[in-house]
Amino acid sequence: MTDVLAPLSLRDREAENRIAVSPMCQYSCERDGLATEWHRVHLGSRAVGGAGIVMTEATAVEPAGRITPYDLGIWSDEHAAALEPITEFIRDQGGLPGIQLAHAGHKASKERPWEGHVPIQPDGTDPHGASGWEVLSPSPDAYPPFDGDRPAMRKADQDDIEGVIEAYRAAAERSLEAGFEIAEIHAAHGYLLHEFLSPVTNTREDDYGGSFENRTRLVREVVAAVREVWPDDKPVFVRISGTDWLDDRESWDIEQSVRLANDFADLGVDLVDVSSGGLHPKQSISGGPNFQVPLAEQVREEADVAVGAVGGVTEPEQADALVRNGRADLVLVGREFLRDPYFGLRAADDLERDPDAAANAWPAQYRRAAQR
Ligand SMILES: Cc1cc2nc3c(=O)[nH]c(=O)nc-3n(C[C@H](O)[C@H](O)[C@H](O)COP(=O)(O)O)c2cc1C
Repeated sequence: MTDVLAPLSLRDREAENRIAVSPMCQYSCERDGLATEWHRVHLGSRAVGGAGIVMTEATAVEPAGRITPYDLGIWSDEHAAALEPITEFIRDQGGLPGIQLAHAGHKASKERPWEGHVPIQPDGTDPHGASGWEVLSPSPDAYPPFDGDRPAMRKADQDDIEGVIEAYRAAAERSLEAGFEIAEIHAAHGYLLHEFLSPVTNTREDDYGGSFENRTRLVREVVAAVREVWPDDKPVFVRISGTDWLDDRESWDIEQSVRLANDFADLGVDLVDVSSGGLHPKQSISGGPNFQVPLAEQVREEADVAVGAVGGVTEPEQADALVRNGRADLVLVGREFLRDPYFGLRAADDLERDPDAAANAWPAQYRRAAQR
């Protein structure tokens, strides 16, 4: 029976185990999207901590795609060069480095969460003097009613759409130069690609709005562009929101997610990472252990693609049960990896039956601590 410590084969790559660091924004660049010491230590620690896959935070494919002025970016060769030592370190620790490629759409141009997270207008600045910008949206009135100012917004025209696809393609090429092994396309949480998917935020009447086929067109074109430049021996993931959690209206739901997951498989996607929500403040969602796992499980059962589950996983035994019971191929862990950067080593200690193998999961430098 496959367990969470079993390797996961992804094309010609193999993750040492099925525990991944879920992408988590750090808002820690110095305004220009370049990786800093913070990113090196933050991601490096989790690689030391035994994660099979270490995924970066949402990394903007163009400057307007950042949530805040401090988000990580990958829109120039300089950005790739800043990330390269990080991917090298992760690989040296036996982890697979992944990059989450993102465009924040109409959720862009905001202050950092711990500074209010309110929109910064293009002519305004945040508390540190960083300027805002006009945000991109599928529809002129897409963002749900807002307390306070809504960001200055532009409905994406054909040129914008082509620009976004090209930005993803170029970002994937640069990610390759930076040494990443996995490219994950962020199509969840109410950001640009999800905004196109959901009829709540997509009211377009052209080829990119209306039917399922049209609403999914942009993400399918982005996936195709990334897959075109991403080598055949390296995996591509897509993160989706399995549902908008808006049952009271026409919205994005699990049935559409299953259908899209099959389309992704046809386009060469290797794993669908199933999160949820993030689109609308009226979402009816409850947290708690495994809160999104039933969505991942349904995609895994009904679509022909590997699936990652995420949300409310805090214990090694819990992660192990998800894999053993066939509910997920990969378990992504977010906040618990912030509380415990060595969650992967804890899993090896708790779950590995062979004491030598458990000790060997630890870096040699730390092994004396493993031999209790
Ligand atoms: C600080 C923080 C930042 C996050 N940033 C991202 C992100 O950049 N991209 C993303 O897809 N999800 C992001 N998330 C969501 C996590 O990846 C994860 O899906 C969520 O926290 C649920 O998993 P958990 O219960 O294990 O934390 C973030 C979550 C946290 C706590």
